[in-house]
Amino acid sequence: MSILKVAKLGNPILRQIAKPVPAATIRSHEIQRLIKDMVATMREYGGVGLAAPQVHESLQITVIEGMEDAGSGTRPPTQLQVLVNPALSVVSDELEEDWEGCLSIPDLRGRVPRYREVQVRALGADGQQIEFRAAGFQARVIQHEHDHLLGKVYLDRMGSFESLTFLPEFSRYWQERSDETDEG
Ligand code: NI
Repeated sequence: MSILKVAKLGNPILRQIAKPVPAATIRSHEIQRLIKDMVATMREYGGVGLAAPQVHESLQITVIEGMEDAGSGTRPPTQLQVLVNPALSVVSDELEEDWEGCLSIPDLRGRVPRYREVQVRALGADGQQIEFRAAGFQARVIQHEHDHLLGKVYLDRMGSFESLTFLPEFSRYWQERSDETDEG
């Protein structure tokens, strides 16, 4: 297993549309190794999600794992999920705004509106079709990671940059008022 280098904002790979992974190749050694390395990289850098373009692979693969927030304990834990070729559909127009960060945009946080609930169709790490409904924190992380596959970052989804803050200022002025301070 390897910790992979994370592409930072400005790297053109973050702005490309990622290619779908042919279902028949998901169980290949190459793709399985990439998935394992993505999980290791996400955990190494304390992320709650990671998309393949962030590790310089323009493929439609995301890994998601929300860990329980040691501070407040209010965030529900999310089990490790591998989503290959994910497709999202919006369940209702209801939007929720909360803080996001991104491993590709270090040391910044901003408030981002996201759909509260989405229906997710994808292939799992075993190549099998999966479908489920995600809400709240999980839905937010999935939308953030899915955006990476479209060449989008969370800054593109902010209604305004008024909330954009550096990490020390986030900790000083804003963290207590938020449960979720996550990076994907
Ligand atoms: Ni991100």
